[in-house]
Amino acid sequence: MTVKPEDSPHVPATGSGSEASMGEVYLIGAGPGAPDLLTLRAARLLETADVVLHDRLVTQDVLALAGPGAERVFVGKSRNRHPVPQERINALLIAHARLGRRVVRLKGGDPFMFGRGGEEIETLMEAGVPFQVVPGITAATGCSAYAGIPLTHRDHASSCVFVAGHRRNGRLQLDYLPLVRPKQTVVVYMGLLGLEELCQGLHRQGMAADMPAALVEQGTTDQQRVLVGTITTLPAIAERERARAPTLVIIGTVVRLRERLHWFQGGGSGEGFHALK
Ligand SMILES: C[S@@+](CC[C@H](N)C(=O)[O-])C[C@H]1O[C@@H](n2cnc3c(N)ncnc32)[C@H](O)[C@@H]1O
Repeated sequence: MTVKPEDSPHVPATGSGSEASMGEVYLIGAGPGAPDLLTLRAARLLETADVVLHDRLVTQDVLALAGPGAERVFVGKSRNRHPVPQERINALLIAHARLGRRVVRLKGGDPFMFGRGGEEIETLMEAGVPFQVVPGITAATGCSAYAGIPLTHRDHASSCVFVAGHRRNGRLQLDYLPLVRPKQTVVVYMGLLGLEELCQGLHRQGMAADMPAALVEQGTTDQQRVLVGTITTLPAIAERERARAPTLVIIGTVVRLRERLHWFQGGGSGEGFHALK
């Protein structure tokens, strides 16, 4: 039985009665892009997978770690395709496992960070499908490291908050009050389209107009770009530079550290990075 990577992958029929014994689902964090940022466990499980269901943010380099016989099923959102509804993804995971397969559900970053991983394992539990969760390096820690912007620092930030910056019904659904605190870093996932609204909201809530802010595009990959400004200037910089998703926004005085701490240069050869001397 094969499942083709169509717009809306079909759920394989599992039939009834006594066919294959139950397989297992591995909900794996694929990290932020570079394949060597996967955990060893993730790489090992990928190698032995029968089928891999993957999102848009999972790079080809990471997918290449799956064995040649593994079926690859795209279940993410992309510009030319309708997203596969979450219920359908859940049904696919269960159906493949019931066929006795080793199913890898591969998600960008970490499955439990804005990744709907919780919903997926809840469904598996209800269906009695065995599973494991393998954490991945989330975009915040990957981008922070590769941009040379520590998320916490003794002199700058003793706390860090992660927020989703996507708009619903045309507006950001953010509570700005807890975001505007001294010695705190704010990390915004999915914040590109709402960047201007976000920065204005933070300023209205009392954040200094000259608070440093950085936007990291395609963090950790050869194509990484880092745009630096303040909450006043970053939206215009992002527009001028035609920033494109995936991007992560880091706001706080920690951003100033990049001047001294940046070490990564994308677009290099081989591993695609080297430390600046
Ligand atoms: C649906 S969320 C998934 C987050 C993911 N589960 C994680 O832990 O990183 C997608 C958002 O993650 C961020 N993101 C993921 N990978 C990124 C990367 N390599 N560079 C910059 N941002 C990234 C972007 O904000 C993107 O819109």
